Amino acid sequence: MKNLIEMDLSCSGLDPAAVDSMGDTATRAAARLYSGQEAYTGWVDLPETYDRKEMLRIRLAAKKIAQQCTALVVIGIGGSYLGARAAYELLTGSFADQLPRRAPKLFFAGHNISATYHKELMEVLEHQEVCLCVISKSGTTAEPSIAFALLKDALIRRYGREEAARRIYAVTDASKGVLRQEADAEGYESFIVPDDIGGRYSVLTPVGLLPLAAAGFDPEEFLQGAQAARQDQTLMDRAAGYAVGRNLLYKEGKLIEVFESYEPRFAFFSEWLKQLFGESEGKDEKGIFPASLNFSSDLHSMGQFLQEGTPCFFETILEECNPLTDLQVPESAGPPLAGKSVNDVNRAALEGVAAAHQKAGIPLFRFRIKTNTSPQIVGQMVYFFETACALSAYMMGVEPFDQPGVEAYKREMRERL
Ligand code: PA5
Repeated sequence: MKNLIEMDLSCSGLDPAAVDSMGDTATRAAARLYSGQEAYTGWVDLPETYDRKEMLRIRLAAKKIAQQCTALVVIGIGGSYLGARAAYELLTGSFADQLPRRAPKLFFAGHNISATYHKELMEVLEHQEVCLCVISKSGTTAEPSIAFALLKDALIRRYGREEAARRIYAVTDASKGVLRQEADAEGYESFIVPDDIGGRYSVLTPVGLLPLAAAGFDPEEFLQGAQAARQDQTLMDRAAGYAVGRNLLYKEGKLIEVFESYEPRFAFFSEWLKQLFGESEGKDEKGIFPASLNFSSDLHSMGQFLQEGTPCFFETILEECNPLTDLQVPESAGPPLAGKSVNDVNRAALEGVAAAHQKAGIPLFRFRIKTNTSPQIVGQMVYFFETACALSAYMMGVEPFDQPGVEAYKREMRERL
């Protein structure tokens, strides 16, 4: 499988001499990442070393879920949520819960503490056959604990305790935490979040692959895409080049990275990127603040700031070169739009904005996804950005795989409860 992610730094404004001067730093970062000695780097070799037996169990569970339900509620937050949702939306689009599908539809819960959200979700689920997939590495996070308790109670009321247990799938630690204890005690089918992989790097473990398999996608195809990325030195060099570029811009005072896309189905991928970079780099009073915008919609709210506001940011554009479909703008739209391909107009927006921003001196990174979205390309994108992020954090001098700040707020919240 060819690498399908092209990187264009020609509008980044980076000085080639400055890039060269980062050579040793980049080499040291790569040496650390691939040393096999660093904690939580299990994801690096995962595309080759993943547990084949566990994969078979994922496939069998997915088949069972498809027979049991029309709606699978995926309960989790942060790294136990965003990856699966990002991949699902990339692959199914913006209206997945409205359109008929052969495989169960995914619904998401456990990523907020809103009574209203859960009440509304439970109302929607009344018209569906339901299974739950509860995902929490620690098994103690407040949001998924609340959502799981609410949805499990509803499931028990509807199906009875034994049948409810057959409809609950848990992804959690191998031995620690209350979710593990409950899964073992109640006989839920359960999967393990590997010890050496942290939440935001866990999409390609059962955390992401079980819900995606249940939604009808071949879980191994995501790993094949990641493996293609891992084995493609050109692509891995691009990941390192992107990490170098980010670090140089950061040193120049560009403290914010804005991820942008012109396809709505990329919106949650940007959310996943925000978590990946924000939690990996934002520590020790360092880090680039990751933000995201959805174009062309946000051009009508944030376009002004981008063009003329405080020049504290750079932009990273995710371009889908080969959208799934195209339409022709009807004559009634009048000139200059009438008769044009909608994709061409979208592309003109992208190129026009890029040119205007370049003239304003905003550094731009452009990633061109050369094919339309498939599990393989999603796997490739995930692996590419995970690698770039880990390298970038090492170059910045921070530990990419912990999140002491997240733990700090969780502690404070628990005290108040
Ligand atoms: O990336 C991380 O480690 C966090 O975002 C966690 O995934 C998030 O806090 C959820 O934790 P858990 O899976 O333990 O419920």
